[in-house]
Amino acid sequence: MPSNLIVDNEKANELISANQGCESHNLTQGQLYDLELFLHGNYFPLTGYINHKDFISVQNNYCLDDGSPWSKLLSLEVDTKLQKKINIGNKVELRDSEGVLMAFLTVESIFSFNKKHYFGGLIEGIETPYHVNYQSLRLYQNHNFQGLNTMFICNDIIHKSEINYLRDFFEKTQKKILIQTFFSDPQESSRYLKCIKAALSKLPENSYQLSILPGVPPNDKRTFLNQVIIANNWGIKTLITTQCTKLISQYSSLELINIPKGSKENSFEEVLNELTYLEPPNYKKGITIFFTGLSGSGKSTIAKQLQSTLLDSTRRNVTLLDGDIIRKTLCSGLGFSKEDRLMNLRRISFVSKEICKNGGVVICAPIAPYDEIRKEIRANIEKNSIFILVHVNTTLEECEKRDRKGLYARARSGEIKEFTGVSDPYEIPKDAEIELNTEGRTAESCCEDVIFYLKKSGLY
Ligand code: ADX
Repeated sequence: MPSNLIVDNEKANELISANQGCESHNLTQGQLYDLELFLHGNYFPLTGYINHKDFISVQNNYCLDDGSPWSKLLSLEVDTKLQKKINIGNKVELRDSEGVLMAFLTVESIFSFNKKHYFGGLIEGIETPYHVNYQSLRLYQNHNFQGLNTMFICNDIIHKSEINYLRDFFEKTQKKILIQTFFSDPQESSRYLKCIKAALSKLPENSYQLSILPGVPPNDKRTFLNQVIIANNWGIKTLITTQCTKLISQYSSLELINIPKGSKENSFEEVLNELTYLEPPNYKKGITIFFTGLSGSGKSTIAKQLQSTLLDSTRRNVTLLDGDIIRKTLCSGLGFSKEDRLMNLRRISFVSKEICKNGGVVICAPIAPYDEIRKEIRANIEKNSIFILVHVNTTLEECEKRDRKGLYARARSGEIKEFTGVSDPYEIPKDAEIELNTEGRTAESCCEDVIFYLKKSGLY
């Protein structure tokens, strides 16, 4: 079994006291998945993040500088600030998102690639991530792979075709199959695992062993090959897969069995039932309806109207995150500098995503003046929900004429600085799903445009 990178208690205490006050790096979720695999020895023979030479070699040739196969660019990406503070030989603490010290990195290589900054170097593990679930399926932690030399990589939902093949394979060879699955976002991964388990329930119990790895399922040749390299470390000899295997045969000595991918059209009722939770139909998905426009453009009034209409005419839960109200609660204390506006909008995005993940509808109505942040929010929400941008296209002249809060007058007099449209920019969106020209129209009429769009898109 490859040795792990976790130091004993005595060494851990020594490291902690000798490196008080050294610089810290907060690991992203993806980095934490990799660190955990490192700590448990799954990235054997690596004992830390790869250096510049290896990185370039892996990038270009899918192998380390010494020629051994490798596919994942396992250097530690850091921000410019940290990169500037660190010299070769320095130690850096690696902490998880809650601030728990997981490991020390001794920096042996510092480099930049495609405008991103990286460290390479030795990892000394202090603590491994704590998991609340699936302990018995985390075979990667203590390498319990005795009697398992065949693996099936479950990088997607499986259906009848895969199950029939796995059953035949077991009946012919009597070899138990390691079913490799992945766990990342708790909600999505739990649902994906339920689909997999529903399919596996159609196999004899003694024909397979389910295993989960931290991280997202492989979705390209680099991440797929990475799974093959990990499997190699576990002593797997045969790989059953629905993926294209050209690259794998080039870089590994595993016996490959390619099987066709199944489809929803020929699946088990139990799997299809679970799938409705993993991939809900559009009308059950979370939706963020994101209004953007100048102050006084009518966003809040239309948003309120929309909330009321949706509550009246559907059974969905509808949350309204109005710009002015959010600024008094979730974002109180923030001002109107670009930095503060971005923070304000990122918080709105965070809350919206959480609500959407649970199938809710969120209506947001901030100014959101910058195209870049609107795109960032869209990408964040669209990972598992629906995002609809509504541009409330009231002209500055009209907003200023209305001036219901008297803010434009105060902005013109210079009393309020950085006022959107007057002394701060508003970037007109080019990617809005709905453009609302409000002038001479009622809120009800504008709201109807949104409802029309929802109906047309099968969301209402
Ligand atoms: S955003 O730019 O960060 O999206 P947000 O929608 O939260 O702005 O807040 C805008 C509201 O704050 C406006 O409707 C207005 O009532 C008030 N406000 C106060 N100062 C400013 C300012 N400098 N620029 C824009 N709005 C302001």
